[in-house]
Amino acid sequence: MAASEATPFAKTGGLADVLGALPRALKARGEEVALVLPRYGHIKLDGARRAFNDLRIWFGPASWRADLYCVDQDGVPVYLVDCPALFDRETLYGAGGADYPDNHIRFAVFSRAVLAVMRWLFRPDIVHCHDWQAALVPILMRHPFAGDPTFYGIRTLLTIHNLGYQGLFPRGILPEIGLDEALYKAGVVEYWGQVNLLKGGILTAGHLSTVSRTYAREIQTPEYGLGLDGVLGSRAGELTGILNGVDYSQWSPETDPHIAARYSARDLSGKLECKRDLLGEFGLPADNLDRPVAGIVSRFTSQKGFDLIDEAAGEIAREDLTLVALGTGDQAYEQLFRDLAAAHPGRIAVRIAYDEGLAHKIEAGSDMFLMPSRYEPCGLNQIYSLRYGAVPIVRATGGLDDTIEESTGFKFQEYSPEALLSAVRRALEAWKNQKTWREIMLAGMQKDFSWEASAAEYSALYRGMLEGRP
Ligand code: ADP
Ligand code: GLC
Repeated sequence: MAASEATPFAKTGGLADVLGALPRALKARGEEVALVLPRYGHIKLDGARRAFNDLRIWFGPASWRADLYCVDQDGVPVYLVDCPALFDRETLYGAGGADYPDNHIRFAVFSRAVLAVMRWLFRPDIVHCHDWQAALVPILMRHPFAGDPTFYGIRTLLTIHNLGYQGLFPRGILPEIGLDEALYKAGVVEYWGQVNLLKGGILTAGHLSTVSRTYAREIQTPEYGLGLDGVLGSRAGELTGILNGVDYSQWSPETDPHIAARYSARDLSGKLECKRDLLGEFGLPADNLDRPVAGIVSRFTSQKGFDLIDEAAGEIAREDLTLVALGTGDQAYEQLFRDLAAAHPGRIAVRIAYDEGLAHKIEAGSDMFLMPSRYEPCGLNQIYSLRYGAVPIVRATGGLDDTIEESTGFKFQEYSPEALLSAVRRALEAWKNQKTWREIMLAGMQKDFSWEASAAEYSALYRGMLEGRP
């Protein structure tokens, strides 16, 4: 597998959760899996084995050098591509709200290093690539390296975790990443006068998947396809939707070390302690213990539906509800939450941060969890919320629609503040009858989204690819 994030090495979102858990779940089924990641500066190499010295990657006259290291993560070899000039930076993808200007070079070097791993270290049956950062792998194998017998017979799978990130660059970058101008055509990477690496991956990978069945369907429509619906539709026969799983060793209120008290579906008593602790963390008065607390943990991007919260905030604030939010991202949304907190002290609070421990505390201390996404390929937080008894209020799209049922949460269809409000009000109505509420919570807590089922679907997909079935 090749990806730009995986827990515990590097994480900005759910991609990392998936890559941290899926290889292990596949291994438990008897598959042999290795993972290739960039070695970002903060990743320690203590205990790592040097697997390849001084790898040279040539893009025309320019060259980059990298070393490959290998560490063992629960029995899965993880190859780290160490090229400090490109990856030893503050953050993964950019700084100050802008992407790094050389991201195309960074992930082209990474993708070429993935080919080097397959050439020198681990010849797989299948190379499973994730998102645009690894989309060059199938492009390289199909085009510049098509005649290289090293890669003959290796199948390629590209998983799309989020169509909102396509790896779009100006045409002029092609020589900087060692791609021939001849590939600048609609059948490969050309896209409305630009280079689109995800598109190139979609057109060259042997098979495609995405992270829920509904999203697999949605992305073939203009509303959700973000300009790639036609390309995806042309490959509908090779596009599979497989829902992500949850790593319950990390996300269970029975064992979670981050939260104030442990609890479970059998004994809910610790949850009140977690709620008190959460209110304290956010400096909210204890009288909020009696009203429902709704939590948000999210990257602050337009994908997540914050403009609905913006428009509905006045009405929401009039309801008997407390809101706590944790996130970072677009400055406009950070400001939105700061303004809301300032306007409703004691009732709305925000922490602008990336804070793993606090994310767990919000799941445990909240009664409800708000995720009104505009689109959501899978979404993990709503599934974590189910297990923590934080009843999800979600927009019925992508993985949110596939994971939340009428018996376990509150869904709304239309992307409008009115629809969001009516779902919030339905939840508040249900809250008034604590017996009903408990039933909804327990129904969610008993759902099982562990990785075994999803890993079995990936295994079946891999087998099908090897047997040449679509
Ligand atoms: P996405 O991948 O689109 O961000 P997911 O719901 O799939 O959405 O996954 C988000 C993951 O990132 C979850 O594990 C969530 O807890 C974590 N996360 C997001 N924002 C933060 C934050 N500010 N602090 C801590 N964890 C966060
Ligand atoms: C993306 C999506 C999210 C999904 C995650 C892992 O970041 O936005 O919905 O859960 O990838 O697949």
